[in-house]
Amino acid sequence: MPYAQVAGWGMYVPSRVVTNDHLAQMGLDTSDEWITARTGIKERRLAAQGEATSDLAVKAAQRALDVANARPSEIDLIIVATCTPDHLMPATAALVQDRLSCNNAGAVDVNAGCSGFMYAIGLGAAQIESGRARRVLVIGADVLSSYVDWQDRSTCVLFGDGAGALLLQVSEEPGILFTTLGSDGSGAGLLVIPAGGSRLPSNGNTVRNGEHYLKMNGQQVFRWATQIIERASIKTIRASGLTPDRIDLFIPHQANLRIIEAASKRLGLNEEKLFVNLSRYGNTTNASIPIALCEAIAMGRVRPDDHILLTSFGSGLSWAATVIRWGVPLPVRLSPWRRFRRRTGRQWTSVRSSLRRQRQKARFWWERIFPRNSV
Ligand code: ACO
Repeated sequence: MPYAQVAGWGMYVPSRVVTNDHLAQMGLDTSDEWITARTGIKERRLAAQGEATSDLAVKAAQRALDVANARPSEIDLIIVATCTPDHLMPATAALVQDRLSCNNAGAVDVNAGCSGFMYAIGLGAAQIESGRARRVLVIGADVLSSYVDWQDRSTCVLFGDGAGALLLQVSEEPGILFTTLGSDGSGAGLLVIPAGGSRLPSNGNTVRNGEHYLKMNGQQVFRWATQIIERASIKTIRASGLTPDRIDLFIPHQANLRIIEAASKRLGLNEEKLFVNLSRYGNTTNASIPIALCEAIAMGRVRPDDHILLTSFGSGLSWAATVIRWGVPLPVRLSPWRRFRRRTGRQWTSVRSSLRRQRQKARFWWERIFPRNSV
């Protein structure tokens, strides 16, 4: 049976840093002390005006392709996990497919709240294990700053923007050992953006009432999250044929330091096995786990044959966990020639993508002027 293995990784965060003090200075009734003590967050990155989810996703994905030394034409499927797509349609994955020139790839979005990225890993690995795909690009990207009410101190301080990507590739050795996916839709109202869908299309009233913003019952989500991380993690560790003491690195969804610490204590995983970067990015939703994994790799926290546990939770309610056995020798060094080839390749790719769009427009006008006979 073919297995799925991580072959490439990449992350991207916007350059604009907003600290807790900035938020207080902007007039929000909060303080660095409160945010740090209750969440562990010190600062977050926010997308620039006009910077959308696909812009972040493309940059993270390009880095993952570089690390794996994979050509865009070799990708069979792109899965973008996001709850803040560029548009309701088309899928953000389709925009990424075009921008990367992955001309042989299918493209689909997954929305499972903050667990979407882990769902995407599970779905991507299953495509490879069933023999339907050899390389799947899995991306978690969100610009939640567009959907938070910057007057609501109980939500806006929590989130940041970012993207992370993994390239999953067919392998003879097991890499993604097991993935648990879970949901409980009875908790849908605990974390919701009420307007903008078919239930409550956006209009003047919904905007006036702020119903296009994220609403959250923080305390209930908090209580549920500490329990579900433990349950999902234990189930996944066991299904992977392991015990908690065989886990070398634990990367939980980076939402709140108190949730993370309570969950790792319940799992009996000490501080050396835990990776946390929440203080610098806040909760980047679907990007939180891949960004943390990229940073753990860069900091030398990942070694070949390590067992890495990733666990997420979020809106839905949804949760997911996976155990990866790391198979890539580290560090990966990109030679100057490979960097140069990639850079020029990207420029050519962007020219080709723009030519394709022009060709679509030209065809549209041609067919309006010279309509084909209908059958
Ligand atoms: N600054 C100052 N005071 C604040 C702030 C703030 N930013 N936010 C809330 N407060 C106040 C409240 O108004 C309240 O004041 P009151 O007692 O006068 O009414 C007081 O602080 C306590 O509020 P609580 O809600 O009880 O604070 P709590 O300790 O529960 O922390 C928090 C709130 C941080 C939101 C916490 O509940 C939490 O992290 N929940 C989980 C959220 C989460 O993980 N969500 C994401 C999951 S899914 C996804 O990633 C999309």
